[in-house]
Amino acid sequence: MTGKATPSLRDEVDKARQSAVSAIASATDTASLRKVAAELANKKSALNAIRAQLGKIEDAAEKKAVGQALSEATAEIESARVARENELGDAEFAAQVERERMDLTEFLTGPRRGTAHIVTQATERLEDVFIGLGFQVAEGPEVETDFYNFEALNMPASHPARSEFDTMFIEPFSDQHEANTVLLRTHTSPVQIRVMQSWKPPIYAIMPGRVFRRDTPDATHMPVFHQIEGLVIDKGITFAHLAGIIEAFTKAFFGNEFTSRLRPSFFPFTEPSAEFDIRRANGSWIELGGCGMVHPNVLAAGGIDPDEYTGFAFGFGIDRMAKERHGVEDIREMYTNDLRFLRQFT
Ligand code: DAH
Repeated sequence: MTGKATPSLRDEVDKARQSAVSAIASATDTASLRKVAAELANKKSALNAIRAQLGKIEDAAEKKAVGQALSEATAEIESARVARENELGDAEFAAQVERERMDLTEFLTGPRRGTAHIVTQATERLEDVFIGLGFQVAEGPEVETDFYNFEALNMPASHPARSEFDTMFIEPFSDQHEANTVLLRTHTSPVQIRVMQSWKPPIYAIMPGRVFRRDTPDATHMPVFHQIEGLVIDKGITFAHLAGIIEAFTKAFFGNEFTSRLRPSFFPFTEPSAEFDIRRANGSWIELGGCGMVHPNVLAAGGIDPDEYTGFAFGFGIDRMAKERHGVEDIREMYTNDLRFLRQFT
């Protein structure tokens, strides 16, 4: 500061400096700070007006003193502006980070969790119901041999029922197997044989799993679908036990207002055989699956003496049950993996 400057002009510079610094301090966000800075840069701002008069000052020493006061004021204002800009910018960035914060550990309120597919849900409910009735769960391989899928189930090589299964064969993977004897299982019934071979009676088993048929997909068919098989082997088992289990299952799975019925039918692996239907509350019937008393040839193939033991078996489609239960119009929809479809069943 120099004592030689005209007091009035120096006072004006000082006033302009103070009001600029306080305008900067009172800006509450970077947008209003930019407005303040623009006003200060304007030709008509108080400091610029004084700067415009500088040329008219005749006394060289005074001109220099006012000029120096102006540049000191300008430097102070600019550093106040930069400091405030940093301060406001930091606060705004912190607020934005807080606003856009995504806490990946808060999965309950954040991104959705996955859920089991409706076929898995149906399988688990079926397992629960049968476990409640005293059954155990067994599984078998999806790649089977002709023996388990057909032969042991009383369908020798020339049996006409084989053609109903639209079998997909695969290349044998060892010298042990001849061509056309290794296949993707067409039903879960081969697991009956595997269970009989490895468990001792009494047997109360259910066997859920994936099965394969050479089928063109449409609203009610898929080439890959799911079945659940049931097998009971004990002393003195009769057809009445079969009917009783089907009825108990129907009420436990669908509800007390549902009933079941058996219609005479034919399967090579059971004798006598039946198909069973479930009666809905509205009186209409859903065809569910097949069942019957295990054929003596099948018991023998499983290593069980048909003179000592009798048993029954049943099998039905799981996908069909899930479709009925949830009113799905087209079974193909269950396999498109469209999240909008899947999320309806969480
Ligand atoms: N395996 C038969 C099918 O896929 C269904 C079936 C019928 C299974 C009768 C059984 C049975 O266990 O006893 O068409």
